[in-house]
Amino acid sequence: MGKGLSDGRVEFQAQRNEFRTAPLWGFKTEKKEYRLLHDGRAKTFEEAILWHGGEANRAKENYIALNKKDKKLLIEFLKGL
Ligand code: HEM
Repeated sequence: MGKGLSDGRVEFQAQRNEFRTAPLWGFKTEKKEYRLLHDGRAKTFEEAILWHGGEANRAKENYIALNKKDKKLLIEFLKGL
């Protein structure tokens, strides 16, 4: 997931910037603030997406390239999972 998300810890076969890919369903409740990513650093879905790096960099780049309306639709979709 790139240097930005690295926690400096190696756990069994997982290197410093490797994490279990979190399942995205189960966010049905309309919370004002989330604690996303392995250390809870992201308070919103957008923030979580923007922390993606390494193998997931392309997903971040694709998100950044969306227009405002499509970004909003994607976030609404995630909240509805
Ligand atoms: C449209 C594409 C994507 C979206 C919207 C997305 C969204 C998210 C969100 C919201 C989280 C936080 C989940 C939570 O904390 O419970 C997350 C975590 C994660 N995603 Fe993605 N993701 C995308 C693509 C990818 C891709 C392509 C990869 C890998 C190649 C990836 C790997 C991960 C990993 C490993 C985590 C956990 C990171 C951590 O705990 O610090 N994601 N993603």
